[in-house]
Amino acid sequence: MTEAAIGKAKARPGERPRPSVQDVLSQDSKPAPDILRLESPAQGLGSEDIPIERYFSQEWHDREVEKVWRKVWQVACREEEIPNVGDHIVYEIADESLIVARTAPDTIRAYVNACLHRGVLLRTEGGHVDRFKCPFHGFTWGLDGQLSHIPSAWDFEHIDPDTFCLPQAKVGLWGGFVFVNFDPNCESLESYLEILPAHFEGYPLEKHYKAAHVAKIMPCNWKLANEAFIESLHIHVAHPQTSAYVGDENTQYDVFPGVRHVNRMITLEGVPSPFLGEVSGEETVRQMQRDMPFYAGTNIELAPGEAPREKLAEAARAKIGKSSGRDLSDVSNCEVIDVIEYFLFPNLAPWRGHGVPICYRFRPYGNNPEMSIMEIMLLFAKAEDGSHPKPPPVTWLGVDDNWSDAPGLGSAGFVADQDTSNLKRIQRGLRTMRKPGITLANYQESRIRHFHKTLEHYMEA
Ligand code: FES
Ligand SMILES: [Fe+2]
Repeated sequence: MTEAAIGKAKARPGERPRPSVQDVLSQDSKPAPDILRLESPAQGLGSEDIPIERYFSQEWHDREVEKVWRKVWQVACREEEIPNVGDHIVYEIADESLIVARTAPDTIRAYVNACLHRGVLLRTEGGHVDRFKCPFHGFTWGLDGQLSHIPSAWDFEHIDPDTFCLPQAKVGLWGGFVFVNFDPNCESLESYLEILPAHFEGYPLEKHYKAAHVAKIMPCNWKLANEAFIESLHIHVAHPQTSAYVGDENTQYDVFPGVRHVNRMITLEGVPSPFLGEVSGEETVRQMQRDMPFYAGTNIELAPGEAPREKLAEAARAKIGKSSGRDLSDVSNCEVIDVIEYFLFPNLAPWRGHGVPICYRFRPYGNNPEMSIMEIMLLFAKAEDGSHPKPPPVTWLGVDDNWSDAPGLGSAGFVADQDTSNLKRIQRGLRTMRKPGITLANYQESRIRHFHKTLEHYMEA
């Protein structure tokens, strides 16, 4: 292969394209908070291939349920979805089903969703109840989980009503998310979250609410979907329409020393992809206005040769400030323009930016290792007084439905469709691959490797 053909491979190993994220942030007029000025490239994760069976083997999936899903803290819902006593959702993962309910104004509990008489699911969907009554023979439990009614009580004298309570999973709260854990001996949520709360101090997610929520049955293993959304290496090929305004190859990937569950990437926007070469500022702005309703109709005039970042940030501050009723004049350029995406093992990717306040969640679809559920939520800022519109119901998409047909996602829907079509091909391709593992880039796919290191740690426990 000629040097020209391998392109950037001729660059020195480990040499990343400039400007780096930190180069750009250091030029911004409104400086990013210290937490975003940190850079922590992964160290010592190795370069070994990742075995492909973990993406389709039933045996691996079954062990993952046992060793991961029944052991980790995982998000069940948002607090604002269940504002009143009696409100609840049903959270399902593999064979498990929980009723996550507000049982008192300040208490949320997660009950195992099965009648203790003959095993009927007590709830098949969320809603509002004042007790949990089984639809088969009428055994009933109060919101406190205590048995309150036995039909033909004379015939169940062997039941002790005081101990015949609904079993519970553990519940923890952070950032407006309701977390559950099936393991009674698990580490505390506080310890599990590691650095995440400190990194979100200047961007309190509990002051946000769910403004859109779309869930789709995906034609791939949950890890494949997860992995496609925690790297930017694929952007210039899979999403070529964004190349004039997404600094994909400049992305900063952070895997913090000693941290198991959290990693991060920062992808610049308003900066062209290094794969594209020279792009004028006007072209960058024009294409952003084309793809992001957010900037459409904003009057962004650049002086000759001016980089568009400052003006884009001003436009974003004005627009988000108006829609949220907040004063964003001191918010950094980075936090209104860029993609600042965190990851919490095993399956949550909350973004830390006012511009595109996305949150992804990925999980298996029942026990089928070749399908999954992927969700996109938009977490908008609440008004200063804490008020917010009621969160909309989840829009469910089948395996053949398009993200872009769902309401409320804007251009994120089109982008997710491009990813979905690749994910289907990966799931199929892995089965025909003559190589026992997939090969990862050392830097740009370091979050995927970090995810697998933590996954292996749980699987081997
Ligand atoms: S199975 Fe629930 S009351 Fe009988
Ligand atoms: Fe993508």
